[in-house]
Amino acid sequence: MIQLLIIDFLIILTLPYGGSTKTDCLSCHGDLLEKEMMHYPAEDDCSTCHESTGASHPSTDSAGFRLMDKVPALCLYCHEETQQKTHPHQPVAEGNCMGCHDPHASSGSSLLSLPEPDLCLSCHKRISRLVQGKMKAHSAIEGGGCMSCHQSHGSDMRALLVDHYPEEDYLPALTENFELCFLCHDMDLMEAEETEWGTGFRNGKKNLHWLHVNGDKGRNCRMCHNIHGSPLPFLVEEYVGFGNWVMEMKFVPDEQGGSCLPGCHGKLSYQR
Ligand code: HEC
Ligand code: HEC
Ligand code: HEC
Ligand code: HEC
Ligand code: HEC
Ligand code: HEC
Ligand code: HEC
Ligand code: HEC
Repeated sequence: MIQLLIIDFLIILTLPYGGSTKTDCLSCHGDLLEKEMMHYPAEDDCSTCHESTGASHPSTDSAGFRLMDKVPALCLYCHEETQQKTHPHQPVAEGNCMGCHDPHASSGSSLLSLPEPDLCLSCHKRISRLVQGKMKAHSAIEGGGCMSCHQSHGSDMRALLVDHYPEEDYLPALTENFELCFLCHDMDLMEAEETEWGTGFRNGKKNLHWLHVNGDKGRNCRMCHNIHGSPLPFLVEEYVGFGNWVMEMKFVPDEQGGSCLPGCHGKLSYQR
């Protein structure tokens, strides 16, 4: 009886060194897993990733545990980066998995440390200024977040995009060059020379999108729109770039149409 008590006592004393079953740890670190989604290995056994340093635990002057390996190697034991993408996302290339993931658990999907788009906006302050406050964000962001157009780890396309969208300001006006936009928008917007439904950017039936985006020197949507957000209606850009010049667009919408005075031409208006 006494012997058994001593053994129990010894187990309690040595527990921080040897025993690392989950329950031992959760009595103090339970909050790490108190979220909807748990990472399987953390739910299973803390010692998959943490090993004792031999120091007593908890202690203010020495760490009781070290990671079995550094991040990202630790993660890549179990998660292969399947194919290397041509354009990896910088934090992923740097192995900063913890920049986006919580190794233990998360309240949303994919063990993200913040829900998306907040996660993305926590690093991308310039975009954050375009989609919050008085700005009107692209409805695609309200609907599906940043991931409706971007990939998180990397992409074979520029700017981590999920589909084609050109870098050049002027290029042949083929819908495949703007495939990203036409995942969700009607192609008539660009292809129909005359339309009553395809777009609101028309003078009577004359499609002014077609007028600006046709032939070999079609204009990139970005010359008139800010894809993330803008204070002006229809995501119209406040300023239009032209070589080294930056000119104010002076876009004024009205009920039947609108007008612009961009510096590319004098003031022109359209009426539907
Ligand atoms: C008696 C409560 C208690 C138990 C049981 C406990 N911890 Fe801790 N742990 C703490 C406290 C308190 C800290 C914070 C120490 C500090 O900030 O210096 C901590 C810090 C840590 C840290 C980060 C710093 C360090 O010392 O390594 C890790 C990792 C950790 N614990 C893992 C574990 C694991 C794994 C277990 C189970 C084997 C465990 N802990 C059991 C209280 C506990
Ligand atoms: C998949 C690997 C993995 C597993 C399994 C795991 N951890 Fe961790 N843990 C980490 C990593 C990586 C960090 C460092 C996080 C950082 O740098 O932000 C960490 C950090 C910690 C910390 C320091 C405080 C913090 O929140 O960053 C504590 C405490 C901790 N883990 C406890 C535990 C406990 C308890 C378990 C079991 C329930 C566990 N861990 C299971 C990978 C893991
Ligand atoms: C011991 C193996 C192991 C290690 C180490 C490990 N994981 Fe996992 N991880 C798993 C398993 C098993 C799953 C669940 C099955 C799956 O979705 O592939 C998972 C799932 C995930 C998921 C997907 C969750 C979801 O909802 O789809 C993410 C993200 C993840 N792990 C990130 C990490 C990160 C970051 C690290 C390094 C800190 C790491 N893992 C280390 C085994 C591991
Ligand atoms: C910039 C943020 C970010 C970084 C950095 C990041 N991830 Fe992710 N990860 C995500 C997002 C968002 C998802 C879920 C959406 C998706 O599938 O793309 C995800 C999904 C995952 C998944 C589950 C889906 C899958 O692809 O199997 C795993 C596993 C994963 N990440 C592991 C890692 C590892 C390992 C690292 C470090 C090398 C890492 N992540 C770095 C944002 C990130
Ligand atoms: C931990 C910080 C961090 C987080 C979180 C983060 N990023 Fe990034 N991202 C970077 C850095 C650093 C770069 C490279 C410098 C730059 O272009 O700003 C980058 C670049 C980018 C680029 C431009 C890539 C290129 O090739 O031009 C896009 C697009 C992007 N991130 C989207 C996202 C999205 C979407 C998310 C959310 C899933 C996200 N980022 C989350 C740090 C982060
Ligand atoms: C409707 C599609 C779409 C959505 C949704 C979207 N983006 Fe983008 N993003 C783009 C396109 C297209 C580019 C390339 C810009 C260019 O060519 O001028 C880009 C470029 C970027 C860049 C790199 C260039 C720059 O302007 O800094 C970052 C960073 C970025 N996006 C972050 C985000 C974040 C964060 C979110 C979510 C809040 C988001 N994006 C949502 C389409 C989108
Ligand atoms: C994932 C779907 C999706 C993608 C991809 C997408 N959009 Fe959108 N976009 C929407 C939705 C939804 C709306 C709101 C309804 C509408 O006006 O059609 C919208 C609205 C717009 C508006 C009008 C804004 C307003 O206030 O009425 C413009 C301009 C726009 N998108 C441009 C683009 C451009 C340029 C691209 C390609 C870079 C693009 N979109 C890609 C979903 C998308
Ligand atoms: C010359 C400037 C200009 C260019 C280039 C341009 N747009 Fe627009 N776009 C506008 C204006 C102005 C409106 C507002 C029309 C209105 O009053 O309803 C608009 C409206 C839109 C809308 C809202 C629905 C509609 O058609 O009225 C979408 C979606 C859109 N544009 C997508 C695009 C896409 C995709 C491209 C590139 C292929 C593009 N735009 C190129 C000026 C432009």
